[in-house]
Amino acid sequence: MNATPSQESLAKQLLVASGGDVSAATNTLQRVARLQKKRANATAPTGEVIVAVEQVTKAYKVGRTKVDALKDVSLTIHKGEFVAITGTSGSGKSTLLQLLGGLDKPSTGVIAIQGQNLAKLRDGKLSTFRNKTIGFVFQFFYLQPFLNLQTNIAVPGMFARTPRKVRNNRSFALAEQVGLGDRVKHLPRELSGGQMQRAAIARALQNNPSIILADEPTGNLDRANALAIFELFKSIRDKNGTTVVVVTHDVELADIADRTIMMSDGKIV
Ligand SMILES: Nc1ncnc2c1ncn2[C@@H]1O[C@H](COP(=O)(O)OP(=O)(O)OP(=O)(O)O)[C@@H](O)[C@H]1O
Ligand SMILES: [Mg+2]
Repeated sequence: MNATPSQESLAKQLLVASGGDVSAATNTLQRVARLQKKRANATAPTGEVIVAVEQVTKAYKVGRTKVDALKDVSLTIHKGEFVAITGTSGSGKSTLLQLLGGLDKPSTGVIAIQGQNLAKLRDGKLSTFRNKTIGFVFQFFYLQPFLNLQTNIAVPGMFARTPRKVRNNRSFALAEQVGLGDRVKHLPRELSGGQMQRAAIARALQNNPSIILADEPTGNLDRANALAIFELFKSIRDKNGTTVVVVTHDVELADIADRTIMMSDGKIV
């Protein structure tokens, strides 16, 4: 590869910054090249706004201490985008995701999902809206230990009152889609970690949500499985047009998404 003068000077700077660690400097250089390519190919997202966050703050009070977990966060996500949220521990990533999913309420500001201001929905209506619109995926899978894979995947369909036959057929199709077609009768403990997370993703898709919200979905997985999960999210987005918002510590995984939102100390930076 012929390096341009600016690449050469960046490489030298990185080598100095990494204390002469050639492989660390090379990794960083490759990452910068990937990001530059991604940026060059990127087009500004257009189309329907599916997530609108306007000047949101979230403060938690514990005893006399107040924690400002989110400080004036505004954000727009378009239909069909695959967005990664990264940032250091405690920067507010999970708090933001919980607010997007209507699992908690902001202290101030507005969150609208598909044009629906979540604060305007009362508890029952909010649950129904969530059940139909949003699929959640968590680090620890939260599969029901005594239900086989197919029934686990069907659970959100029960809450949505989908007829049994329809939700069961859908479970089989979803298990196929996430590569678990031959594991539908297995209990969660008879699956690997990567397979459990695939099952949790299939479950999140049961009601054909517009959005998937995933908090550290690869936190318990090895590298190969983590990459596979991110590729799965991408394929779901490509196939179904689902908007995907994933929190991760891992900047290399975040590169797989269309866009990375970086958080620091309760703000988007
Ligand atoms: N229920 C709560 N009560 C009080 N403080 C909270 C609560 N949840 C989060 N916090 C505080 O809010 C801040 C943001 O927390 P949050 O869980 O959103 O961070 P995070 O970016 O997801 O971190 P991590 O990467 O470690 O998961 C932290 O300082 C945390 O201690
Ligand atoms: Mg978190």
